[in-house]
Amino acid sequence: MDEKNWWRDAVVYQIYPRSFADSNADGIGDLNGIRAKVGYLRDLGVDAVWLSPFYPSALYDGGYDVDDYRAVDPRIGSIEDFDALVDALHAQGIKMIVDIVPNHSSIHHEWFQAALASPPGSPERDRYIFRDGLGPDKAIPPSDWGATFGGPAWEPVGDGQFYYHLFAPEQPDWNWDNPEVRADFLRTLRFWADHGVDGFRVDVAFGLAKDFSADPLPTAAQLAQIKAGPDHPYYDRDEVDDIYAEWRQVFDEYDPPRFAVGEVWVEIPSRRARYAVPTSLGQAFNFDLLRANFDAVNFFRIVDENLTSADEAGSSSTWVFSNHDVIRSATRLGLPPATPENSDIKNSQGTTWDRDRRWLLSGGTYLPLDAEAGLARSKAALAFALALPGSTYIYQGEELGLPEVLEIPDAERQDPAFYRNAGLEVGRDGCRVPLPWTPAGTSFGFGENGSHLPQPDWFGQYAVSIQADDPASTLAFFRKALALRKQLLPAAVDAHFAWHDSPPGTLHFSRGEWHTFTNFTDAPAPLPAGEILLSTAAPADVAPPNTTIWFR
Ligand code: GLC
Ligand code: CA
Repeated sequence: MDEKNWWRDAVVYQIYPRSFADSNADGIGDLNGIRAKVGYLRDLGVDAVWLSPFYPSALYDGGYDVDDYRAVDPRIGSIEDFDALVDALHAQGIKMIVDIVPNHSSIHHEWFQAALASPPGSPERDRYIFRDGLGPDKAIPPSDWGATFGGPAWEPVGDGQFYYHLFAPEQPDWNWDNPEVRADFLRTLRFWADHGVDGFRVDVAFGLAKDFSADPLPTAAQLAQIKAGPDHPYYDRDEVDDIYAEWRQVFDEYDPPRFAVGEVWVEIPSRRARYAVPTSLGQAFNFDLLRANFDAVNFFRIVDENLTSADEAGSSSTWVFSNHDVIRSATRLGLPPATPENSDIKNSQGTTWDRDRRWLLSGGTYLPLDAEAGLARSKAALAFALALPGSTYIYQGEELGLPEVLEIPDAERQDPAFYRNAGLEVGRDGCRVPLPWTPAGTSFGFGENGSHLPQPDWFGQYAVSIQADDPASTLAFFRKALALRKQLLPAAVDAHFAWHDSPPGTLHFSRGEWHTFTNFTDAPAPLPAGEILLSTAAPADVAPPNTTIWFR
């Protein structure tokens, strides 16, 4: 694999910095904590690390509310610590990807404070999205739109104007028509590229371009009828392409060019592909598997569609089952499949989103959980993805088979999705609980003085130190899988990808000699002939339920 294309088949490990490892006993994970665990990442065998935001932030949204894009939150470390971490990762051949949050800043950003201090119509206000209120005393918001985390999308500032926020009110949206905003982000990209980062994960990549020129703006009810795309005022407009064309020029100033992957919650693969072309970000997340029932028909269609679309874009596909925004896969896949009865949102992909939300909200009582099957399926799903062409994104703790944490007292929750959606959401804290490194001790080895989100008593049994010594553990399995993948990959990359006939409820594909067979059912399935290289469950003369097997 040439150095330029390292990302095409990479295994990328997502770190949520506040919850990975705490080096200075303040209960908050930090950069030096991550640096102390570089050996762990090397032994796991990942190709790259993606760091969720570590910038100065008042944490209205877990750091996705950035005060200063070109600095490190002092609670997480310093810029010197950052450089040391990049060096330590690079010394082990691991790339570093950082999260860029260009849709909105925090209200504490210097430019937002300047906007508040300046009059309506000023250049300072033009960097954000300010509009006059409606009605004789301008007290009515410019539209009745809602924000993603609940509540209205427009916030009054007291002088007859409102500003727009897609997310929390503390996250004002940038005006991407403003040349200063555009130039400032180019500066930020260069800043981190000059600090040695190999690439960027672009937050809400599909939301930057906005057209709020309609007068009056559509009502919320009308908005709900407009498809994401050129006619939508803010989702997936064509003008995002121009923004990323500019970014691409910056990426290509470097050798090798800097990599980028967009967070693109866009359903139509051909629209998504625009972000993935080499003249744009280069890669786009597809979250199809992350929302799909564990079922051979779904998985086949999703994989086929995404391989084709990535190919057409000249990119490589992404495979994701977990991240900091969704219920952990070991739990999600232990729930009964999403159906029209247990889920409001119905689409062809069998979306699980709504079912998960309801289940979390009920404290785990709404539907029965089969934890053992959930773990088996999440391992099988990840092993299936790791064998596919494209890159696989693993979220910290997924390699441990870590389940979602339900037992967080309301008073200790942090997610605005919980606070702003009273009674409708518990939010995303349950997948952000600091990792267990040891079976006992304060915060299970996360640090020496507690953890910013409470860990449940049962966390210790998933500890890294226990799993590292147990050849039958989930961690041991993924170490083996990633090592084997590295050996098989060079030949597989040049080989032809092919599907093979297999019994209902199973899938079988190959890349040259490397064959993968997944049994998606709860019953044993006949095993194709071949030499078994790896299996997510001990194979007998059949493929056990919920199992992926690599063979040749
Ligand atoms: C993205 C992030 C999520 C954040 C939101 C607003 O979806 O993944 O964590 O809350 O953007 O920045
Ligand atoms: Ca700390």
